[in-house]
Amino acid sequence: MKFIIGNWKMNGDKKLLNEMESVLADVTTENKVVLCVPFTLLGAGNGKVALGAQDVSAHEKGAYTGEVSASMLVTSGAKYVIVGHSERRAYHGETNEDVRAKAEMALENGITPIICVGETMEEKRVGRTFEIIEKAVRESVPKNVQKDIIIAYEPRWAIGAGITPTRQEITEAHKLIADTLGNMDLAGTPILYGASVNGSNVAEIVSIENVDGVLVGGASLKPGEFVLIINNAK
Ligand code: PGA
Repeated sequence: MKFIIGNWKMNGDKKLLNEMESVLADVTTENKVVLCVPFTLLGAGNGKVALGAQDVSAHEKGAYTGEVSASMLVTSGAKYVIVGHSERRAYHGETNEDVRAKAEMALENGITPIICVGETMEEKRVGRTFEIIEKAVRESVPKNVQKDIIIAYEPRWAIGAGITPTRQEITEAHKLIADTLGNMDLAGTPILYGASVNGSNVAEIVSIENVDGVLVGGASLKPGEFVLIINNAK
């Protein structure tokens, strides 16, 4: 079983969600398929495909205009939430500490957080990839986790870029994350790869050791391509 998680970002509408659901209804797979959609679409599904959100507030409730709490996500039917996506880190200044607080809030409410980590091109260029990834895992993952969490390794320079790291780069990053999680008593936590995944490269990517699935951006908006990804990820 591999996780195939779509991240629609700020795209999609009810029509696309319903189209995707009807296409997915004909797919037989052992893989776990989840669509992380905009908040406004969480209640628009037919309940057959697991839905997730793309962010959650670090606060429980109160004067936080524009934010959406984890308990509100539960009410809307979300089972998963992406936290610390690189676009949140880049455009909203989210730190590892912010991401951990959000992940804690998700866990307290019974939602599985998909915690994203990954290096920028500049960090890669100066040889800091491993340091950045390890620090992000240590600092973004809540302490004393008893429930399910998912980690997504997304090299930030490869997101939406149509390029993927080499097999060796993915192997090394995922091994580092697996070892770090092992040291935190979290061995066995699923580790997904994300960035420029498509129907043609997914088979190779999920064949790499410690790759338990994929987080898919652009290609998750195209029903045919998304089904190819689901079918080719074995
Ligand atoms: P991409 O995005 O698949 O379009 O590269 C991945 C992501 O940002 O999660």
